[in-house]
Amino acid sequence: MAVDLLIRNVTLVSPAVQRVVNIFITDGAFSAILTPGPLPFAPAAETIDGTGLVALPGLIDGHVHFREPGLTHEETWLTGTRAAVFGGVTTVLDMPNTVPPTDSVERARAKLALADLTAYCDFGLFGLVGGSADQVGELAGSGLVVGLKTFMGPTTGDLPSPDEDLLFKALEHARVSGLRVAFHAEDRATIEAARSHETRTDPIAHLDTRPAKAEVRAVERIADLLRAANAMGHICHVSSALGLHTIESWRGDRVDLTCEVTPHHALLDRDVYADYGGMAKVNPPIRGEPDESALLAALADGRIDTLASDHAPHLAADKLRASIWDVPSGFAGVETLLPLMLSAVHDGRLSLERLVHATSEAPAKTWGLWPRKGQVSVGADADLTLVDLARAGEIHAADLHGMNNLSPFEGRATVGAVVTTIVRGQVVVRDGVLTGAPGWGRPVTTA
Ligand code: DOR
Ligand code: ZN
Ligand code: ZN
Repeated sequence: MAVDLLIRNVTLVSPAVQRVVNIFITDGAFSAILTPGPLPFAPAAETIDGTGLVALPGLIDGHVHFREPGLTHEETWLTGTRAAVFGGVTTVLDMPNTVPPTDSVERARAKLALADLTAYCDFGLFGLVGGSADQVGELAGSGLVVGLKTFMGPTTGDLPSPDEDLLFKALEHARVSGLRVAFHAEDRATIEAARSHETRTDPIAHLDTRPAKAEVRAVERIADLLRAANAMGHICHVSSALGLHTIESWRGDRVDLTCEVTPHHALLDRDVYADYGGMAKVNPPIRGEPDESALLAALADGRIDTLASDHAPHLAADKLRASIWDVPSGFAGVETLLPLMLSAVHDGRLSLERLVHATSEAPAKTWGLWPRKGQVSVGADADLTLVDLARAGEIHAADLHGMNNLSPFEGRATVGAVVTTIVRGQVVVRDGVLTGAPGWGRPVTTA
């Protein structure tokens, strides 16, 4: 067997075990994973010494906003995927609130064509539940999207939330097409009522207009509809213990509901508003304790399925505006997800196996990418992230590789760093240097 790339003597982490192995890659796929010993094949074209490093399945970030088309002053496929590969992320799934939104077959095709030109890593798209039910049905059945996305409440782009009729029909279309529907779960009426009598302009005012009960109400309504339509749902960026509790109460035989957490909801405390002001504004908001620890614990014990960045960059000048109501929500995150969460592993708050599961197998199964993505096993796409678990670092926007890199993690110390990133057998980041080419990334959907 011809071997293109061999990673020698590396500690491979799967959701189940850790062991030292040699990893062989041929034609962009894993061709063998063997205990170190005499090599059974002809010498590999290229060898990377993995001694002292840990190999993770290439990360799947199932929630990014890469802004192209339409908002290319904030991010592009080129800059977003460049940040991704520096962060050890080998597949990104992009949200549909671009301009225009990804709400039709034609627009999904156009966005995929754009991404294809410049992406450093593989990519998939979510289709928006907007427009007409027929349009959603066509999009769901097109094979172009990994899932549908519904915004239940107001957020960036301020897309309308679908009414009950459209939502129910969308869920039926998703079921027929075997797709899961992702939800931004904040109840519009709850937020608008709180906002209508809010006169403060500081960051905490934003938090207070988006209470946990907005999340709870949205989850209740979503779960009810999912059950009626017998469809699969996913709650994006769970932000509160109450929201999580509501999800848990509906799960299992009552409704097929997965959920996700972000590093910012699981790691940031309320003092982030005093320290970072509008930079910390995001929807749903960062709540701090006790929600923060409850979410990290739920990721650690498997009640939360996936970990995703919700990478949502905005211009620094916009994030620094005086009134919180003039500040857009969201910030960069795709490149910092892994070092931040490796630091939680270092601190003993999360196992490395759980971190791996939540960034590989779980998102791959949630979004229909399994078994080709999300595991290091023979025949799967050779997506691999090599990390140094002991390397200390500090997060600074100036060192990151997206277009707008500021975040409320600025200045934070980390332990655990990405060394090398491999996408379908191609080394795209080697020892911290970009070696990939824009356009190497491929769509995960094949239509
Ligand atoms: O804070 C957010 N920013 N929440 C969202 O739901 C959208 C995102 C964005 O696109 O900026
Ligand atoms: Zn959202
Ligand atoms: Zn988002």
